[in-house]
Amino acid sequence: MLAELSSALIAEVERAAKLLGAKQHICILTGAGISAESGIPTFRDKQTGLWENYGAEDLATPEAFTRDPKLVWSWYQWRRRVVADKKPNPAHDALAQWQYHTQSSGQKVTLITQNVDDLHEQAGSTVTHLHGHLWRNRCSQCEIPYQNKSKGSYSSADSMDYSEALISCPHCDGYIRPDIVWFGEALPVEAWETAEEAAANCEVFISIGTSSLVYPAAGLAQLAKENGAEIIEINTNPTPNTIVDITLAEKAGMVMPLLIQRITAL
Ligand code: OAD
Repeated sequence: MLAELSSALIAEVERAAKLLGAKQHICILTGAGISAESGIPTFRDKQTGLWENYGAEDLATPEAFTRDPKLVWSWYQWRRRVVADKKPNPAHDALAQWQYHTQSSGQKVTLITQNVDDLHEQAGSTVTHLHGHLWRNRCSQCEIPYQNKSKGSYSSADSMDYSEALISCPHCDGYIRPDIVWFGEALPVEAWETAEEAAANCEVFISIGTSSLVYPAAGLAQLAKENGAEIIEINTNPTPNTIVDITLAEKAGMVMPLLIQRITAL
């Protein structure tokens, strides 16, 4: 793997590892790019097949669901089928390994994700989800969580019924929707408090595979910077973000195993 990385990039990875190894409080924000190498399309990728004429912004809104619940539900059922068999990649695994290592090193590594998949959990990480969970449903009216099927756990791919038929809430007859934060909706309070606290108090903030376009999550790096943190960005197509101190412009699945190997060897 090392042979595939340029010597300039390896030098930057070493610099990042040295910085991270010397600090106690780390906050990590991941986005769709970390799951790209697992085969899950990012939001900026062009949609394919049936959905190529729609953007996430046309479908992931409460207005879209009110206007055409069947369309939005069908899109999510399709996305669920796309994600159902996907597995963590080396970037997820490396982060889980780092978190495990911190049990003895004493570092505090808080992992926050904008992703609604559960690949961080599958890899063994403890993670806070800012934008909800793909495998959970709730009522669009009374908000009571909807128990998928009796088999499997409440929130896993094998508990899902992938039918595109709309479901009515057993309590109020409202339509069941995915338990995901849509554009224009508030983030879950507890998850946001965890993220804000970790960003404001970290010494290094690492942004992995996010376009940093969607707020409030995109503001976490700024909050960290204002409180004195250094910022590391890992992105195949780095953002034009002037607050970044170290840029690792490579696939997360290539960079993260090397970075974590260097940190845990220190
Ligand atoms: P985006 O799809 O906006 O951005 C993905 C980023 O990952 C881009 O900057 C890519 O350059 C980068 N990328 C792609 N492959 C990569 C790889 N292998 N390694 C590293 N980086 C890679 O995804 P998010 O920033 O997560 O919100 O999007 C934020 C939110 O917008 C999502 O949570 C979603 C979306 O609409 C909701 O659904 C509410």
